[in-house]
Amino acid sequence: MNRELRHGVDWVGHVDWDVRDFHGYRTDRGSTYNAYLVRSEKTALIDTVKAPYAEQLLASIGERVPPAEVDFIVCNHAEPDHSGSLPAILAACPKARLVCDEKCRDALGRHYDTSEWDFLVVSDGEELSLGRRRLQFLETPMVHWPESMATYLPEEKILFSMDAFGQHYASAHRFDDEEPLDVLIQEAKTYFANIVMLYSKPIERVLDRAGEFDIEMIAPSHGVIWRSHVGAILAAYRDWVAHKPRAKVLVLYDTMWQSTQRMAKEIVDGALECDVDVRLYHVRHTNLTVLATEVLDAAAIAVGSPTLNRTLMPEVAAVLTYLKGLRPANKAGLAFGSYGWTRGGATDVQEYLKAMKFEILTDPILAQFVPQPDVLDACRSAGRMLAGRALASAENAGTAAPRETG
Ligand code: FEO
Repeated sequence: MNRELRHGVDWVGHVDWDVRDFHGYRTDRGSTYNAYLVRSEKTALIDTVKAPYAEQLLASIGERVPPAEVDFIVCNHAEPDHSGSLPAILAACPKARLVCDEKCRDALGRHYDTSEWDFLVVSDGEELSLGRRRLQFLETPMVHWPESMATYLPEEKILFSMDAFGQHYASAHRFDDEEPLDVLIQEAKTYFANIVMLYSKPIERVLDRAGEFDIEMIAPSHGVIWRSHVGAILAAYRDWVAHKPRAKVLVLYDTMWQSTQRMAKEIVDGALECDVDVRLYHVRHTNLTVLATEVLDAAAIAVGSPTLNRTLMPEVAAVLTYLKGLRPANKAGLAFGSYGWTRGGATDVQEYLKAMKFEILTDPILAQFVPQPDVLDACRSAGRMLAGRALASAENAGTAAPRETG
């Protein structure tokens, strides 16, 4: 495996082939915890790995330089997937100073016994000389925690971007031109939608600031390093931080006795009468990770639930609660669903959509027990309406020509 970004700048992280659940994020392709060793007159380790993989990290460092000779360990982010092995690594690197920002020092102090750690606290714009190479620090709050930071290596034009531009993607390769680009962009999109969609504004500021730097490589903390497709991932991020809608209709539903499912399929058939992308998901058969990714660039979304115990079905509530936290923007939507004797399902769905600031296209479409022809007609019309709204949104956003960003 080629681990060399530049001569003397190496990936020394860990490939986690087995991880399938990242606090709820379904990581079907595993992940990596990226750490980088920068050698100059002095040596710096940029980030570490999850606690169980400390020995592998030390072994990788040791292939290049004795750990006792590491001068600095940069902690860009205190989340344990990157800081978990710090206690072990610092113990093996006794002369290393721990470089981080003020907020990160506080966060680390809440996770670990840091009383013996030799901190070098840096702030935005500060520089650390390693000799002929330098590290420059860029505070990036909320990408993905308040203390997050990126590190730039100007002599090599490499941005160590932390969580931004990452992918949960385990592979035998370390670079973007060694893996299929469409798969990488899809994994980056999934990562964006599920981890940082809520922090789109702070990421937009990072994108703006990235323009100040001459960047030939983006080395994130998960997945492959971008070196041949830097422009592609930056362009995709521009679309994602803006929550740019595509001409895409998404229909999500749960069902008990197939009435709400019948309505969902009628909405889909209505939307398919127009030239839009249409996706249909039974939420009890689909994990949240996939659904959030689909929502990111959908212009129009219909959500259906039967009424159960006077309210919506629990899995629909779970999806909507998850989405509400991620705050997807620029969506139009509507609610639908069957009921028996009280109408709580679809009407409660509509309240969620309003809370998410969706543009509500119509009152909830309801069917008592089983949808009759008039209700099915209303569903088909709603599908057409969603498609029309999706086309108009895409036109406004400049995404009308289907440019798939994942
Ligand atoms: Fe990969 Fe926010 O940690």
